[in-house]
Amino acid sequence: MIRRILVWDVPTRVFHWLQVLAFGGAYLLAFSERFRDYHDALGYILLGLLVFRLVWGFIGTRYARFSSFLFNPGEIVAYLRAMLKGKPGHYLGHNPVGSVSVWLLISLGLFICVTGVMSLQDDASDRVIDMHGLATNVMLGVIALHLIGVLMSSILHRENLVRSMITGYKSAATEQGIQRAYLWLGLLMIAAVVIFWFTYVKHPLG
Ligand code: HEM
Ligand code: HEM
Repeated sequence: MIRRILVWDVPTRVFHWLQVLAFGGAYLLAFSERFRDYHDALGYILLGLLVFRLVWGFIGTRYARFSSFLFNPGEIVAYLRAMLKGKPGHYLGHNPVGSVSVWLLISLGLFICVTGVMSLQDDASDRVIDMHGLATNVMLGVIALHLIGVLMSSILHRENLVRSMITGYKSAATEQGIQRAYLWLGLLMIAAVVIFWFTYVKHPLG
């Protein structure tokens, strides 16, 4: 029997969509000195979100845990082959190929934020600043692949993955859903981001 089961807890979803806003905003505001303050604030917000995600990867709910999407190279290649034949296996959490983009996005995001903080220092070298910009461009490429992957997987399995990342639910013939959504933690994350924004930025409303 197909039923609706909860797969993504609230903190994972809040992390995902705030990360999209923080990255998108930091990118759009990166190229003018006038918006430096906003750029840095959005960067710090992304850094905070990523650090939270690292912790949640160990103590979070089933499908948010790193151990649930830690695949070996053989599984990744097998999934890629099956995908090319149009018959990839179905995973409730991240699939083996999707997991590669998740690892890359988290690591690149962290690298960009660390080199960003280093760029803020008075004695920042041009090399660090260049790496900050370069990593951003690499990340844009990985995001494009991420979006193609989400679209392909949604079509192949006839399931709307974007909707699942918003509502947390998937339809499945199993009872292996998570038990707790941790709404309070998601709300706390949103509150922390808003408070940080209003304390860090000089003119928070623009
Ligand atoms: C804590 C996080 C971050 C901090 C503190 C930070 C800080 C900075 C600083 C100080 C610069 C200016 C470097 C200079 O030319 O002197 C810069 C440039 C830049 N940042 Fe960030 N950044 C952060 C996160 C991000 C993120 C998440 C992105 C991607 C969306 C990003 C994209 C860029 C780009 C593309 C430039 C180059 C702009 C140009 O070519 O003029 N940064 N950042
Ligand atoms: C700045 C741009 C983006 C970044 C950095 C990003 C990053 C990520 C990360 C790290 C995950 C793993 C979630 C987790 O386990 O915590 C993920 C999953 C996901 N993202 Fe994004 N994402 C971006 C944009 C988008 C956009 C624009 C969409 C849809 C329109 C999207 C749809 C999804 C979906 C559906 C999943 C779940 C995939 C699955 O079911 O395995 N992402 N994304």
